Amino acid sequence: MDKRVKEACEFIESKIKTKPKIALILGSGLGFLTEKVEFKQELNYKDIPNFPYSTAPGHEGKLVFGELFGKEVVVLSGRFHIYEGWNPSDIKIVIHTLKMLGIEKILITNAAGAVNTTYKPGDIVLVKDVINFTFRNPLRGPNDNDLGPRFPDMLGVFDKDWMGKLKQIYPEMKEGVYISLTGPTYETPAEIRAVRKMGADLVGMSTVPELIVCAHVGIKALVLSCATNMAAGILDQPLSHEEVVEVANLVKEKFTEIVKKALEV
Ligand code: 6GU
Repeated sequence: MDKRVKEACEFIESKIKTKPKIALILGSGLGFLTEKVEFKQELNYKDIPNFPYSTAPGHEGKLVFGELFGKEVVVLSGRFHIYEGWNPSDIKIVIHTLKMLGIEKILITNAAGAVNTTYKPGDIVLVKDVINFTFRNPLRGPNDNDLGPRFPDMLGVFDKDWMGKLKQIYPEMKEGVYISLTGPTYETPAEIRAVRKMGADLVGMSTVPELIVCAHVGIKALVLSCATNMAAGILDQPLSHEEVVEVANLVKEKFTEIVKKALEV
């Protein structure tokens, strides 16, 4: 294991006595769920050795340990984006630290643009597959064979069992393919037409790097996207981060309920 990961892990373990098996990553405007964590113990990313820290508005940048709806969890409030200048390998440090802490499952959330024209702003979509359109891969470089294979299978990262249980509770929930671009610009209408032809239903600037590292180390994931807005060129209006955060706010209750169920099943 990377020395930097060991240092981060030792620091966390010196401060935190709980041993969660589930991690949550909260996307833009979805950080409100950390308010629901009970018996909270927080660590700022900035204080954890070798950890990257987030600069995006709407992203807080802390690890929150505690109980969420009765389950022991660690919440990553704020994440790391390629557009901030982080390398995908920095994201690797975070996921490897989670692995070393004993995390087995991860619930990843994001705010995304709807490429699929049948979606509506506010829809919460279960992500069943992804397209890595960042042209970056966090696993580039020497492989640590103790952690995972050189050529990891990607579909195995999706926790089919967990997803199936959530679908039983929400049979109407839409399922879609999420494509990640690096941003920070939103896409052009032409780019959205292109990614739609490629099979994407949702577009965003996160999630795929984290998922790739999870696939490698064997952390099983459930991914939920909040379609906060229609992607470029679908409606005759400009896109804004304010709108993304606003819509994420409007679905607070629905989103909270779904996450609660996902933790209970
Ligand atoms: Cl339209 N595009 C991207 N890349 N990310 C988003 C988005 C759109 N809406 C929310 N996040």
